[in-house]
Amino acid sequence: MAEPLLRVEGLSCGHGQAVVLADIGFEIEAGRSLALLGRNGSGKTTLIDTLIGAAQRHAGRITLDGLALHTLPPHRRAAAGLGWVPQERNVFSSLTVAENLQAVARPGPWTQARVFELFPRLAERQRHLGHQLSGGEQQMLAFGRALVLNPRLLLLDEPLEGLAPILVAELLRAIRRVARDEGLSSIVVDQHPRLVLGVTDDALVLDRGGIAWRATSAELLDDPAPLATWLGLGARA
Ligand SMILES: Nc1ncnc2c1ncn2[C@@H]1O[C@H](COP(=O)(O)OP(=O)(O)O)[C@@H](O)[C@H]1O
Ligand SMILES: [Mg+2]
Repeated sequence: MAEPLLRVEGLSCGHGQAVVLADIGFEIEAGRSLALLGRNGSGKTTLIDTLIGAAQRHAGRITLDGLALHTLPPHRRAAAGLGWVPQERNVFSSLTVAENLQAVARPGPWTQARVFELFPRLAERQRHLGHQLSGGEQQMLAFGRALVLNPRLLLLDEPLEGLAPILVAELLRAIRRVARDEGLSSIVVDQHPRLVLGVTDDALVLDRGGIAWRATSAELLDDPAPLATWLGLGARA
């Protein structure tokens, strides 16, 4: 069998001495997208941060197409192909939209022009400064910045958080297009399973320091009982 794009084996991670996730393992095949679900505090951000090298790895291996990422400092992981959109949108507030994209762009299929086509709102505001953008526009820009990095694996931590419904729909459409239609491998963290399962291929649910459930996104949409168990009753809605 071909090497998966991402392989996580025996990973224990947390903050300082504290262990948040113990001995977890999963894989992502090239071209597939993974919904990472779990209650608040279940370790979703900790896992993403451990992948990029910003949280503490206590044990285990992380490989990207066979390359041992866990041995590399964060900037080398980015260069190896991890594109990251943090939970707190990190756009440069004193640069324009266009400059924000140019500052990080690397050669590949995702160009500034294609980001502007994906998010026409950003094209309209390309001369506005980062701090002049609304929260939703900043989220689009953070997403666009990760795309023009032309990553092999895109990591989106709660891209829908705090957005008005019309912007949620716009972001979901963009994620679906990038992850499903164009096959950019990705991990999408969200607290709204129904939304994110609709735009991903596979799902993992974190609970009590480990992986509580794994299934395809379609299976979980078909039979949401596990979501109610692991995420609470609200997850059915
Ligand atoms: N910087 C940090 N230092 C210490 N503990 C942290 C830090 N960030 C998160 N935690 C703890 O790690 C656990 C998992 O948090 P987190 O990964 O943010 O969960 P999620 O993203 O699923 O809401 C929580 O118990 C949280 O309090
Ligand atoms: Mg989080």
